[in-house]
Amino acid sequence: MDWITIALPKGRLADQTLDLLEASGYDCAAARESSRRLILEDPAAGLRFILAKPADVPTYVDYGAADLGVVGKDTLLEEGRRLYEVLDLGFGKCRLCVCGVPSLKDRLHTLPNKRVATKYPAVARRYFETVRRESVEIIKLNGSVELAPLTGLAEVIVDIVESGRTLRENGLDVLETIADVSARMVVNRVSMKMKSSRIHEMIEAVRVTLEARKGQGGTES
Ligand code: PRP
Repeated sequence: MDWITIALPKGRLADQTLDLLEASGYDCAAARESSRRLILEDPAAGLRFILAKPADVPTYVDYGAADLGVVGKDTLLEEGRRLYEVLDLGFGKCRLCVCGVPSLKDRLHTLPNKRVATKYPAVARRYFETVRRESVEIIKLNGSVELAPLTGLAEVIVDIVESGRTLRENGLDVLETIADVSARMVVNRVSMKMKSSRIHEMIEAVRVTLEARKGQGGTES
């Protein structure tokens, strides 16, 4: 039997993915081992899990180092890789937003040549230059992006907003929503053909579980 290699984003999305796969009939006990190992195998099921940094999942899947992966839509939009996006898994929900001080609401266009701080430079550039047709300076940060407008580093940020608590506690607000985000299952283009039956079987099993969850009144967030 061919191995199926699944790239999981280390952290909360990984646990939710394993719950979903187990509910869909896949034994994921091996992947739940708490250790520092980064590759976890279940030979009986022919499943191999690799634990990657979330932003690297599309890279592993694009190059075929993993057959499929689970990754947030925010990362997919930023990475822009040629993958098959086959399922919206319904968890990991948040929004990609432009945020800043509340006084900028409905006044974004009045600020020329804004500086935009973000962990998502490609998303931010596309949004401001292609959608809004404004020229901006993008400043790449690696976290705690909300600091940028508070310290004068940038006028606005592009970041994910989940509960809104970080914004609220720092006196910031959503100015515009760019996209809704949730976890997606993605598949390597060659694997989709070469391991077609096993991959389609998995997609279908997960799809049925997601439908059943919807019927029970919704998805986890
Ligand atoms: C993310 C994001 C926001 C926060 C949003 O940061 O960049 O800062 O979560 O969540 P909330 O709306 O529920 O407050 P993360 O926790 O990943 O840390 P980081 O800032 O170091 O990237």
